[in-house]
Amino acid sequence: MEPQNITMAEGLPSDAKEAVLMPSDALPEGTPQVKGYDFNRGVNYEALLQSYMTTGFQALHYGQAVREVNNMIETKLSSPGGCVISLGYTSNLISSGVREIIRYLVEHKMVDIVVTTAGGVEEDLIKCLAPTFLGDFSMRGADLRPKGINRIGNLLVPNNNYCLFEDWITPILDQMVLEQDTEGTKWTPSKMIARLGKEINHPDSVYYWAYKNNIPVYSPALTDGSLGDMLYFHSYKNPGLKLDIVEDIRRLNSSVVFAKKTGMIILGGGLVKHHICNANLMRNGADYAVYINTAQEFDGSDAGARPDEAVSWGKIRMDANPVKVYADATLVFPLLVAQTFAQRHTDFTNMQKEQDS
Ligand SMILES: NC(=O)c1ccc[n+]([C@@H]2O[C@H](COP(=O)([O-])OP(=O)(O)OC[C@H]3O[C@@H](n4cnc5c(N)ncnc54)[C@H](O)[C@@H]3O)[C@@H](O)[C@H]2O)c1
Repeated sequence: MEPQNITMAEGLPSDAKEAVLMPSDALPEGTPQVKGYDFNRGVNYEALLQSYMTTGFQALHYGQAVREVNNMIETKLSSPGGCVISLGYTSNLISSGVREIIRYLVEHKMVDIVVTTAGGVEEDLIKCLAPTFLGDFSMRGADLRPKGINRIGNLLVPNNNYCLFEDWITPILDQMVLEQDTEGTKWTPSKMIARLGKEINHPDSVYYWAYKNNIPVYSPALTDGSLGDMLYFHSYKNPGLKLDIVEDIRRLNSSVVFAKKTGMIILGGGLVKHHICNANLMRNGADYAVYINTAQEFDGSDAGARPDEAVSWGKIRMDANPVKVYADATLVFPLLVAQTFAQRHTDFTNMQKEQDS
């Protein structure tokens, strides 16, 4: 009997060989080659991050996002009102340390419009009253509840923080009702957030800087969080406060409709993503767009929709180069800011000086 390998070699089907060793067409000239970082060059974070552009997968998307944001910034700095940049983020990012990155951008007037959800407003203000702590995803709700400790992922917020928040906000809500009744003030969510930013008067706060720098913060679902709890309690004590979301949508849409160019940076999905995209529909699409989120598109959700879906609706321009980075924003956004806005700190300061003079 012949050894089996000789039999197999003789009988190799020619189809199999042709299929495996099929010749390829040449790729277009200039197609980038894959190459990662070489630590023989030492630890050079700048070069490491630059190597993401040729690393592939989400590292490549990150590199493309850096390029897209830098294009936005270039257009913004090129002429007054050159590019209106909207920044949106989910509430949990304010609970996390991404809050400090967002505060930096707002403090230095690097973005023009902010959109967030209710928790993204109150958690910033509450952090000025008492801290949020690190915990663990595995901490059990049934162990934490009797201790009055609330968990947001692997962060912990003592319930006392919300008691402090109620003590702080109640007199402000009283005053808002008074101004509405005696001076005819028409409150909107954005005007309320500006007022809270003024009252908190604390340089750690995103909304203190938004107030100081006249950057509007839109939050049409402002009641869906502790702020809603406070408004609910207050409505029994001192009823009548009204928040007009129609005035806010007009203000938001108008600020992008009349912009020369617009850019969107959206961290997470849901309301914050759609609210910014929808405003840009009013101008037949944003010129620049970067999404950073973990949502997937297979379920048809807006949260998971890739930028191309927004192109079909006229929310991103057909000739734009939008990027979606599939990642936790806590990992990616600080790096993105390090390679974009923070690199242009002096240019933003100079632009500000010119506009103030
Ligand atoms: N700290 C909190 O999370 C908090 C506190 C109070 C109220 N709320 C309320 O809960 C409601 C839902 O919150 P939401 O709309 O802000 O968003 P969400 O937390 O429901 O997130 C929406 C989507 O954004 C994406 N996402 C969230 N975190 C991300 C991250 N770190 N990196 C990348 N992608 C991420 C995910 O795809 C997620 O499904 C809101 O009305 C909000 O006011 C939240």
